[in-house]
Amino acid sequence: MTARKILVTSALPYANGSIHLGHLLEYIQTDIWVRFQKSRGHDCHYVCADDAHGTAIMLRAEQEGITPQALIDRVNQEHQADFARFHVNFDNYYSTHCEENRLHSERIFNALDAAGHIKTRDIEQMFDPEREMFLADRFIKGTCPKCKADDQYGDNCEACGAAYTPAELIDPVSAISGATPVVKSSTHYFFDLPAFGKFLEQWTRSEGRLQPQIANKLQEWFDAGLNQWDISRDAPYFGFEIPGAPGKYFYVWVDAPIGYLASFQNLCEREGLEFDRYWNKDSDAEVYHFIGKDIVYFHALFWPAMLEGAGLRTPTAVNCHGFVTVNGAKMSKSRGTFIKAETYAEHLNPEYLRYYFAAKLTSGVDDLDLNLEDFAARVNSDLVGKVVNIASRCAGFIKKAGGTLSETVSEPELLERFIREGDVIADDFEAREFARAVRRIMALADEANTYIAEKAPWALAKEDGREQDVLDVCSMGIHLFRQLIVYLAPIVPTLTDDARAFLNLESIDWASREHSLVGHTINKFKPLMTRVERERIDAMIEASKDVLIEEQKIKDGTNKATPPLDDDPISEAIDFDAFSAVDLRIALIKRAESVEGAKKLLKLTLDLGGLEKTVFSGIKAHYSPEALEGRLTVMVANLAPRKMRFGVSEGMVLASGDDEGIYLLSPDNGAKPGQRVS
Ligand code: MSP
Ligand code: ZN
Repeated sequence: MTARKILVTSALPYANGSIHLGHLLEYIQTDIWVRFQKSRGHDCHYVCADDAHGTAIMLRAEQEGITPQALIDRVNQEHQADFARFHVNFDNYYSTHCEENRLHSERIFNALDAAGHIKTRDIEQMFDPEREMFLADRFIKGTCPKCKADDQYGDNCEACGAAYTPAELIDPVSAISGATPVVKSSTHYFFDLPAFGKFLEQWTRSEGRLQPQIANKLQEWFDAGLNQWDISRDAPYFGFEIPGAPGKYFYVWVDAPIGYLASFQNLCEREGLEFDRYWNKDSDAEVYHFIGKDIVYFHALFWPAMLEGAGLRTPTAVNCHGFVTVNGAKMSKSRGTFIKAETYAEHLNPEYLRYYFAAKLTSGVDDLDLNLEDFAARVNSDLVGKVVNIASRCAGFIKKAGGTLSETVSEPELLERFIREGDVIADDFEAREFARAVRRIMALADEANTYIAEKAPWALAKEDGREQDVLDVCSMGIHLFRQLIVYLAPIVPTLTDDARAFLNLESIDWASREHSLVGHTINKFKPLMTRVERERIDAMIEASKDVLIEEQKIKDGTNKATPPLDDDPISEAIDFDAFSAVDLRIALIKRAESVEGAKKLLKLTLDLGGLEKTVFSGIKAHYSPEALEGRLTVMVANLAPRKMRFGVSEGMVLASGDDEGIYLLSPDNGAKPGQRVS
């Protein structure tokens, strides 16, 4: 067998957030596949990097009062520490903010431009006159044109789910400065994607390139028609300036995939590999991208078209996975199931998760549920109960007999079957059918346990003169255990390493399983893995809720610059503490006034039993100011003040609403201004 040259990537995580269990599905899936390829003796290189550019990162740094460079350096360290905890073994982990990436981005852009694939056109966009920057939809907030919910993002409403353009928002404001955005025109650079339509249809349909579900999804996009892709952003932007276009920057999604090249280039320089051998058009190497299903458009359309247009080779395949859910639902901060890698690792062994993900991963794109009950049961019964148990049942007897395995194999056919099963298991790993591989491995583990149970060495040991039989049976157990470890090695590297030390082996590579261990001396057995404890899981969930509270504290009083991670339109359960954190008060509407220039807003002056608060409320269409004055209502008194075009709003009054009207809440007779509502 000749060694294949394989380059593997995982998607580059954004440099403004922590790694969580959802991310880890991808990095663990990729890492298992890479470890498998290396175990088979292939020349496999696994590279990744932080995705460091874009507005969100620029603003986040600003919010923290540090430079973008300081932010991305810190997050890079955090990410690398998280990946190390989960034994995700990159050959290189880099950043898209590096010279290699600048050069490759410029080179690719220039090649596309020279070939006529770059167009320019003026477009109109919302502009923040105070910050002097263009605003992406998610940085514009305002009142939902449909349900009138306050404080909604520029593209869709979290309250009613309506989709709209920022221009339709009522009283739009910049989420960054609070200023009212204006429409402004600017020249943008476009990548001529439609010119690659034919190429892409063929590319996406070619054998092994994409999973069938993904290829079908792409067909829908082809049918809908491809559009030119806007690849430029105006200053201020954290990224690379476009050559020959001062003040214009590459959109983050342009230089992000080029970051794969940059990270690999950096590895090549360190290890003396030939970059061109992997990326030239006539390359004999294989290139695989592992990604989540949310970023298919970028990897299966833009990216191959860019590579093709720039005269480089395209990926061998793009391997897509589904999303992680926890206990059957989307990961949720309030339920404590939005679990950061670090939080998990503080409570549970990362190899449990690697095993559980492997046991559920297929080559498909279905979502994967981390059911925490099932997780504990599965790890305990398979890894601890079946696999580790084989070694722990046999080790003591072998130790007693001097630590050296028998000179003969007592069940050669059984062992041979275990070895040959490795060929089939290898096919499963190769095809990313990890769940199927795990099923086969566990079926072998069952057989090994049955063998030991039937031979009952502990009973033999009580009989006189059966020492050799005891040693033969237990040696056989160790031969079988060793096979299982070879097969599990890509999934549970630490367990494997400890088992390798116990087995006194140098290599646990796929081919090493053919080398017989007869007459081989093994080492003292140490427990290889402990059971998953329910309390640890509970503690992890509680800790994840604490993380939410900490983050909330940091966010309070600042503008939300990044979209929330939970975008479920249905509110999630909150505990009593969360509820009582909302300070609801009876408020007397002392004054209600129209606001010059605002069609929907009334300025309310509220009396909370001596304390005065000003609230701007979008209820003008349904209430005349006179009708409100002197009325009691309910207000959220401790909402962080929000700067609006007309002044600062210090809270909200409670109302329901639909297409026909808005209905302000009133307390029953007797309620007094300032009283707490609970
Ligand atoms: N920065 C881009 C990728 C650029 S690649 C040139 C990005 N970053 S991300 O941090 O949002 O996501 C990184 C990877 O993690 C993506 O492949 C994404 O699909 C995956 N996942 C993020 N959350 C996930 C789950 N909840 N479940 C499974 N995978 C998820 O996208
Ligand atoms: Zn709405």
